[in-house]
Amino acid sequence: MPAIELIGVKKAFGEIQAVNDLNLEVPQGICLGLLGPNGAGKSTTMRILTGQSIADEGTIKVLGMDLPEQAKFARARMGVVPQLDNLDVDVTVEQNLAVFARLYRAPSVPEAVDRALEIARLTDRRKDSVGELSGGMRRRLLLARGLVHDPELVLLDEPTVGLDPQIRTQLWTLIDGLRTAGSTILMSTHYIEEAERLADEVAVMTAGAVIARGKPADLIKEHAGARTVEIYGPPHELEEHRDRFNTAGVSVRAAGPAIAVLAAEDAPRELIPDHAVDRAASLEDVFVKLTGEDAE
Ligand SMILES: Nc1ncnc2c1ncn2[C@@H]1O[C@H](COP(=O)(O)OP(=O)(O)O)[C@@H](O)[C@H]1O
Ligand SMILES: [Mg+2]
Repeated sequence: MPAIELIGVKKAFGEIQAVNDLNLEVPQGICLGLLGPNGAGKSTTMRILTGQSIADEGTIKVLGMDLPEQAKFARARMGVVPQLDNLDVDVTVEQNLAVFARLYRAPSVPEAVDRALEIARLTDRRKDSVGELSGGMRRRLLLARGLVHDPELVLLDEPTVGLDPQIRTQLWTLIDGLRTAGSTILMSTHYIEEAERLADEVAVMTAGAVIARGKPADLIKEHAGARTVEIYGPPHELEEHRDRFNTAGVSVRAAGPAIAVLAAEDAPRELIPDHAVDRAASLEDVFVKLTGEDAE
């Protein structure tokens, strides 16, 4: 039984089709990265999975339960880490966790709290009030709170959006630890590096639907080939290179100050100037090609 099964799911807000015929299956025990640009429909999908939003159409199963009918039971077995910090700042770290442990009817509240503190590496800060914590510790506590009832499935909606690189790295370490421990994780993100580092499989989402799905290495091979060549230079020179590639039937894209040639191993050698930078194809190449959006 897959942890999540979505078939033909649709959700509109007035004229906006936020989720548009979405099919997504998440097997147990993997971290699936739902990678898509802003507005792709990732958060709407997450909200449908938690029962906070009701789909217009489609079949939704979470841990074998039908949504929205059994949303309450499904919700009890999943951990949700919101994008925005809504911790209770007037009480201590451990009290924040204990409230949730009781809410989720953990068999032993003290044990649940200890375990969550351990995961978030906050054991030595348990008596601190939330107001005393650094930004990174608050994010770790937010994650711990979502895990306090030892959920079978963890939903992370853009877990590191807008965070400092240092805090992001701390969270990546924690998420990687969950993954290694065998949790099933659905993590939405628009950061390619986040998906690349943490996800066993990636589903690329744009305009409300999944348009590609697979292990990062397989997606790269299928959509971007083996090598990418980047050519830097003044705009008029890049324009000339671009024309020559296009004439030869090779598509190129803008890549910041450069142009990039995907599957460069198949491009005519004489078109690639000596100063070009040759690198392994990446998930970013796939993302930009499939979504038409610049990577962040
Ligand atoms: N409650 C809402 N009311 C109106 N439009 C919404 C609402 N929630 C999301 N949308 C729209 O649906 C689309 C998908 O949004 P969202 O699921 O938040 O995307 P993502 O999380 O991938 O950035 C966007 O165009 C967004 O503006
Ligand atoms: Mg979102």
